[in-house]
Amino acid sequence: MIEQHNLLEVEKLSLGFGGSNGLFRTKPAMVLRDVNFTIGQGEIVGLVGESGSGKSTIGKAVLKLLKAQEGRVRFDGMDISDLSERQMRPLRREMQIIFQDPYSSLDPRQTVRNILSDALDIHHLHMGSSREARLVELLDMVGLRREFLDRYPHEFSGGQRQRIGIARAMSVEPRLIVADEAVSALDVSIQAQVINLIARLREQTGVSVLFISHDLSVVRFISDRIIVLYLGKIMEVGPADLVHHAPLHPYSKALVSAEPRLDQKSSRIRLRGDIPSPLRPPSGCVFRTRCPFALPACAERVPELREVAPGRSKACIRDDIDMETAS
Ligand SMILES: Nc1ncnc2c1ncn2[C@@H]1O[C@H](COP(=O)(O)OP(=O)(O)OP(=O)(O)O)[C@@H](O)[C@H]1O
Ligand code: SF4
Ligand SMILES: [Mg+2]
Repeated sequence: MIEQHNLLEVEKLSLGFGGSNGLFRTKPAMVLRDVNFTIGQGEIVGLVGESGSGKSTIGKAVLKLLKAQEGRVRFDGMDISDLSERQMRPLRREMQIIFQDPYSSLDPRQTVRNILSDALDIHHLHMGSSREARLVELLDMVGLRREFLDRYPHEFSGGQRQRIGIARAMSVEPRLIVADEAVSALDVSIQAQVINLIARLREQTGVSVLFISHDLSVVRFISDRIIVLYLGKIMEVGPADLVHHAPLHPYSKALVSAEPRLDQKSSRIRLRGDIPSPLRPPSGCVFRTRCPFALPACAERVPELREVAPGRSKACIRDDIDMETAS
C-alpha cells in the first residue's frame, strides 16, 4: 500500500514580530506559540478565533510570506521551512491565497481577461491556442458568464468579484488554498453561495483548503475539521460537527455560545473581559483570565494540546468540566 501523507504539516510553529527597536535587539512579541496541525489531501480545515488571535499570521507563515522564528512547515512531504524565495518559486503555483477584499486584490485597471491571463503567464500555463478556452472554462468553474471576460472589477458585485478572485487562484491548479476571511465582507446570502462554490471546487479538483474566519457559523458549514485558536495558541482541534455540537474546550464552547440560535435553552458561556494583549499573555493557560472553569493550577503551566478522543484534541488541564453547568 502506498502511504498517504498529509499535504501540509505544521509543527511547533512560533512566530513573533519586532525583535529590534532600531538600536537594540529586543525579544520579538510572539503572536503564534507552538502551533501544530495538519491538512490532508483534499481536506478543508477551518481556522477560527477572535480578531488578533493570529489566524492571518498562520496563513502567511504556511505560505512562507512570513518567516517563523521556530518550527517546521512541510508541504507534500517536503520541509519548506528554510527554502529561499527562489527555491519557493516552483511551489508558489501550488499554494494560492484568496483574500477578504477582492476589490483591493484585483487591479481596477485590468479586465478579467488580463487578471486571469497574468496568473497563467506567471506560471507559463496555456500560452498557446488553448488560452481562450481556459479563460472561459475558469469563469464557468466559478459560475460566471464568458461575456464577463472583458469587464473591469468595478462592474461586478462583491460576490462576483470574490468569484473572480477564486478563478484567479484556481487558474494555476493549486493543491492548497488559504482562504483568509474570504466571505467575511459579503452579505449572508452571498456568503453561502461562495462557500458552496469553494466546497464544489474541492470536490472537483481535490484542492486542500485552510479556511480562515472569525465566524464559527461560517467555518462549520464548509470544514471537515476545525482548529480553534486563542491568543496564538490552538485550544481545540476536531471534526467540524463535533467541535460545533459538543465542544471540549471552554473557549470553543464560548464561541458556540456566541452564535445566534433559536433554542435559548442550551447552556451558554459568556466571555468576561477582553482578549489580553498578545504582548503580555497570561501565564499558564492563555485563556485563564476569561475562563469560567479556571483553577489556580491553570496559571502554573501551559496546557499542551493532547488527544482526548480519536481525532479530537484540546489544550486544557481539566477533564472534569461539565459544559452544561456553565453560566
Ligand atoms: N506586521 C505585523 N507587525 C506587528 N504585529 C503584527 C503584524 N501583523 C500582525 N500583528 C499582530 O499579530 C497579532 C495577530 O494578528 P493576525 O492578523 O494574525 O490576527 P487575525 O486572527 O488574523 O485577526 P483578524 O480576525 O482581525 O484578521 C495581532 O496582535 C496583530 O496586531
Ligand atoms: S486550562 Fe484552566 S483556564 Fe485553561 S481552559 Fe482549561 S480550565 Fe480554563
Ligand atoms: Mg486576519
